[in-house]
Amino acid sequence: MTVVIAVDGPAASGKGTISRRLAKHFHFAHMDSGALYRLTALAVLEANGDPTLEADALCGAATIDLSRAGDPAIRTAEVGTAASRVSAIAAVRAALHDFQISFLTSPPGESLGAVMDGRDIGTVIAPHAQAKLYIEASPEVRAHRRWLELAGMGLERDKTLLLAEILARDEADRTRPISPLRRAEDAALLDTTNLDIDAAFAAALALVSPRVEGALKERHRG
Ligand code: DC
Repeated sequence: MTVVIAVDGPAASGKGTISRRLAKHFHFAHMDSGALYRLTALAVLEANGDPTLEADALCGAATIDLSRAGDPAIRTAEVGTAASRVSAIAAVRAALHDFQISFLTSPPGESLGAVMDGRDIGTVIAPHAQAKLYIEASPEVRAHRRWLELAGMGLERDKTLLLAEILARDEADRTRPISPLRRAEDAALLDTTNLDIDAAFAAALALVSPRVEGALKERHRG
């Protein structure tokens, strides 16, 4: 059985970077599940569709191009907002569900484990994950991080607008009826507001290590 680390949290909380570093540390595979929703949103927008319409969103989910997961085009605030909209549609979540489960069941490269980050990984996709983290940071710090990330990609954005977008997306992701963003009861909470990325990673590692090492030992014994 794959050892799973489930990482959830709101936009720009640091969960993506922390997850990538955890995966590298344990030699596990990593999936950014938000990229699936962003790719779906991009496909809808590129087809001039409406991300709030189930038919358009489903068509987007059926035509996602995984080779574009690293494309800066999926990182824009517009695509983030459209991703939040398609992600509130039950049929879209169902369409992307199997893809995430098969990644966790058979991670690429025959890795012993997988790290998956998103909004509902510890609650819906992998409720039995051996280790769970819920990562938070203040909205202002998250807006600043998103601003830096976009600036690094050559995309200039007004910070006040980014903050408003983050707050609106938090509200939509937390209050939607299906798979809302929430902390699983057994997820360790990590607030990265006052931590730089190295300190946040060290804290995350300290929280998950005992569980991951225990699960790996168990796997060797089994
Ligand atoms: O993590 P992100 O900002 O790339 O995610 C983009 C949107 O996708 C987010 O606003 C909500 C949605 N999402 C989701 O509903 N469930 C996930 N597991 C991951 C992302």
